[in-house]
Amino acid sequence: MKSRASAPGKVILFGEHFVVYGVKAVLCAINKRVYVTAEKTDQKKIVIKSDIGELTLEPDKTVSEIKSPLRPFYYLADKMIKNQDTGIKVIIESDIPPGVGLGSSSACCIAGASAISRLFKDTSREEVLKLGVEAEKTIFEDTSGADCAVCTYGGIIEYEKDKFQKIKTQPDFHLVIANSEIKRTTESVVAKVRRHKERDEGKFSALCDKESRLVSDALRLINENRVQELGEKVAENQEYLRDINVSNDILEEMIKIGQSTSFGAKITGAGGGGCIFALADESNLGNTIKQFRDKNYDCFSVKIDFKGLDTF
Ligand code: PMV
Repeated sequence: MKSRASAPGKVILFGEHFVVYGVKAVLCAINKRVYVTAEKTDQKKIVIKSDIGELTLEPDKTVSEIKSPLRPFYYLADKMIKNQDTGIKVIIESDIPPGVGLGSSSACCIAGASAISRLFKDTSREEVLKLGVEAEKTIFEDTSGADCAVCTYGGIIEYEKDKFQKIKTQPDFHLVIANSEIKRTTESVVAKVRRHKERDEGKFSALCDKESRLVSDALRLINENRVQELGEKVAENQEYLRDINVSNDILEEMIKIGQSTSFGAKITGAGGGGCIFALADESNLGNTIKQFRDKNYDCFSVKIDFKGLDTF
């Protein structure tokens, strides 16, 4: 018996980092996906295969022993075969570049949680989300859970410390994603921001207030599909990210290229490297992509994925 699931990646439109300290963030699922196929096997082993490596292990290991980035899949498979006389084979295929802020690990955790759990029982989206966040915590303990929520439900969500709500409108914009190809971990950048905050709590708190106001304005513009003005909010959010030191010269160069043709550009996700996005519509999409490609940046465009987790 085989079970298959897929989940989309994501972009954080507004509020990364500040969300860790209680500010609302706005995320959208994108039309790039991870596909996970899970299968019961006769041999009581956990076998995981993906483009980034392979793992074959006995069950019942403590998760901290697993040094591989495939650890969340081991966690999920091991949890599901407790007291069962079966092994599991998991195959992961992905369209989402890993480690660059596009939600590849959350999409893996959600598609993995769904495909693996459905070998044993029917699971609701709510159950899959809970399981997926548990799995993600095996790699980043302090995750806000926002990424997993948006890739489970799709569309655009507003997210605030364990609470989220899906936005009902379906705005029609394109996001041009450009990849700095600088690797970093979310954990290290979040720790850096924490140190920055501790150096001047008052200043950080004032910035959180500004970010909160910006997010409220942005939500109103999203609901009214006012893409051009939304771009101004994107650019303003980038200033706040710069203020907390998660930008750098290369990212700023990319932001400048994006700003020159699109409605607004900013980092998405932890920063320090990874990706930026530029907000566009049909009128400036082609030229925005051209500007990045002319300067040899790896770049592609995405639209919002309204489906979220899919099972088949
Ligand atoms: O780079 P990503 O996609 O892992 O995004 C991290 C977002 C943060 O706000 C920096 C951390 C979090 O858990 O919300």
